[in-house]
Amino acid sequence: MKIIMLGAPGAGKGTQAKKISEKYQIPHISTGDIFRANIKEGTELGKQAKTYMDQGLLVPDELTVNLVIDRVEHDDCKNGYVLDGFPRTIPQAEALDKALSGLGEHLDYALNVDVPDENIVKRMAGRRACISCGATYHVVYAAPKTEGICDVCGSELVLRDDDKPETVTKRLGVYHEQTKPLIDYYAEEGILKTIDGTQNLEAVFDDIKRILGE
Ligand code: AP5
Ligand code: MG
Repeated sequence: MKIIMLGAPGAGKGTQAKKISEKYQIPHISTGDIFRANIKEGTELGKQAKTYMDQGLLVPDELTVNLVIDRVEHDDCKNGYVLDGFPRTIPQAEALDKALSGLGEHLDYALNVDVPDENIVKRMAGRRACISCGATYHVVYAAPKTEGICDVCGSELVLRDDDKPETVTKRLGVYHEQTKPLIDYYAEEGILKTIDGTQNLEAVFDDIKRILGE
């Protein structure tokens, strides 16, 4: 099953992609997580990506597309994967479609987690991310067992650099301009499924399971 997650920053793409990955046993591939891991390791890619991410801008397609295309060709992607945060522009979507059709493959679902802008800024202020493994929490809606500590690996939880309110507003603008057109793109391909992302985490996942099958 090959799935992409669509939705505004903070809509819950990462939260749901992780649940999908666990239930359906397919890799969760998040471009945001890949960039953050590169920033942490101080790689050249990380240095370049950081300048864009800190401003709430998209990392250029040239730095993003090949990274993902190489990744989906790995052996662990044979039975499918869930892409989270990619594609984010029409050229990225076209490049992915082209690469997949070259392999005789196609996407099965584009899951659009729909959350209005008003809810987003509130959610982001409460998000906490693990500096080590990338696991995501929310101080109210998905609290860790011990405040400030990751349940998975025991490392410290932090507010992401790009979750400051002014950067979130910028990211929302970029989403509307560059990413939202993908909703029509995948509707035309006939694989778009929209889910009400304002429900609680479990209700959103129940809707997703109804779409993907138990
Ligand atoms: P990325 O890391 O992908 O960020 P994003 O799309 O802005 O999305 P987020 O990760 O912020 O939100 P999410 O939808 O995953 O929500 P989450 O599940 O965490 O990208 C970061 C940056 O990298 C970009 O700005 C760009 O610069 C660059 N980049 C990445 N991919 C790129 C690409 N393809 N091209 C170019 N540049 C790229 O949930 C948010 C919070 O809400 C959490 O605290 C969670 O616990 C909580 N929550 C989730 N669901 C619910 C619910 N139903 N009810 C209540 N709370 C909830
Ligand atoms: Mg995410």
